[in-house]
Amino acid sequence: MNKDRFPIFKTYPELVYLDNAATTQKPDVVIQSLIDFYTKYNSNVHRGNYPLSEKATELYEEARSKVSKFINSETKEIVFNSGTTDGMNFLASSLSRTGLGYNSVLISDTDHHSSILPWINSHKYNVSYISENIAENKTYDIVVATLVSNVTGNILNISDLRNRFQPKILILDVAQGVSHMDIDVKKLNADFIVFSGHKMYGPMGVGVLWGKINHLEKLEPFRVGGGMINEIKKDKQTWANVPERFEAGTPSVADVFGLGVSIDFINSIGIKNIKEHEKKLSEHLYNRLLELKDINIYHSPSNSLGVMSFSHNKIHAHDIAYELGKRNICVRAGHHCTQMFHRDILNIPASSRISLGMYNSLEDIDVLIENLKNILDRYTN
Ligand code: ALA
Repeated sequence: MNKDRFPIFKTYPELVYLDNAATTQKPDVVIQSLIDFYTKYNSNVHRGNYPLSEKATELYEEARSKVSKFINSETKEIVFNSGTTDGMNFLASSLSRTGLGYNSVLISDTDHHSSILPWINSHKYNVSYISENIAENKTYDIVVATLVSNVTGNILNISDLRNRFQPKILILDVAQGVSHMDIDVKKLNADFIVFSGHKMYGPMGVGVLWGKINHLEKLEPFRVGGGMINEIKKDKQTWANVPERFEAGTPSVADVFGLGVSIDFINSIGIKNIKEHEKKLSEHLYNRLLELKDINIYHSPSNSLGVMSFSHNKIHAHDIAYELGKRNICVRAGHHCTQMFHRDILNIPASSRISLGMYNSLEDIDVLIENLKNILDRYTN
């Protein structure tokens, strides 16, 4: 779907790119937007009252409004940052420092390290893990969860999570969902969500934190510096309004602009069409993986998106990915920043992960499987 819009495939016509959960390739319009920004609009935002800076500010704020429409939120509820990890670190830091009394946090040991480490590392929270034998009637101040697993593609049941643990604050990492399914913050009923631009065909270096405005207005900033105060005195500062309060320093303006363009691109195709296309691919991939001998697949075809991992009983995941790489096929191997999930739950050191994007085709999957068969045969005979 729209593969001809992604210049990397003109550079490498043989490339079979199946590592979209790590990052997606960029369409021509997004690449062009970065060139346009630096050749036509480059200046700082919210700081200059000359036309070039006013234009850059307008483009920056227009991108905020595009992101907000994309996830059905209010514009001032969108905070730009450098990505999902940045958003999660901000929340772990600000929610404890603001003195709102949040203490107990429930996280999942199946999740990405960026959903786990900020809460452990802050040393301010009483952290529990969802796989522990937790009492059914225990509630938590904060629950941190992942909408779509970056290992299995499983889509979490959010209402079940809310009902079971009754969090005061529900935080969702939606990074693996946002360019593959409809994300509507009103339907999700979370308090905060975080995601990255580079996993939605946008530039690297830009991400989004969305929070309900009543929460954001109570939060202290995590980083302080230029462009985020109302008044500064030697002994007291008052912060600018939300969201500027949380965007200290010069933001990644060109990348924010590029993110707005990637959203236009996704909208021009339609997220529903992308989802349907990837669903067909995902079913085909799963069925074809079942043809392989001695492998364990970590994916359930129902209620999931196009991410799946597998381990081989005899061959290390790194060897498989390396051999595929030599054949121009990109998959990720390792623990995918989910070491606890791999070691303690799946009981494997590593897996090979295949993750789909809009430009993948049934043919990509067939090329992958034929090469996998060939590699597995060579290694086991
Ligand atoms: N979080 C990204 C992945 O799962 C980098 O590969």
